[in-house]
Amino acid sequence: MATLPLMDVTWSDRFAVGHPEIDRQHRVLFGIIDRAKAVVEHQGEGVDSAGVVGDLVKYVVQHFRFEEEAMAAAAYPSRADHLAAHEAITRKVLFFRERHVGGQESVDAFADFLATWVAHHIGDHDRRLAAFLNAAGR
Ligand SMILES: [Fe+2]
Ligand SMILES: [Fe+2]
Repeated sequence: MATLPLMDVTWSDRFAVGHPEIDRQHRVLFGIIDRAKAVVEHQGEGVDSAGVVGDLVKYVVQHFRFEEEAMAAAAYPSRADHLAAHEAITRKVLFFRERHVGGQESVDAFADFLATWVAHHIGDHDRRLAAFLNAAGR
């Protein structure tokens, strides 16, 4: 389903956007993705895969909400575009979870897919949002 080139799932400073709270949340997100990969490596598919997939979905939704509230509060001009990007990722994530629950998609593939989309999103939308928030002193 992912059409973008696969990204390394490990956090690195090249993903930093320069806004402390957003960077902190992105690090947490990458941490959960790493944990999902570790679950697969150490325990194989199936053991706590539902738990870690649930954590991923929950954190993505929570993180998007944080950015969306920040955009609304700061009257961010590119808000509609950024919101649409979040909605597109959320739709894919929920679709992926459904397929995972149905046994058609592995945690590994889910983690790779999410890391890829999130990394591209961070480098584009989140980087622009962070610069705006920093300039606005938020
Ligand atoms: Fe975002
Ligand atoms: Fe983000």
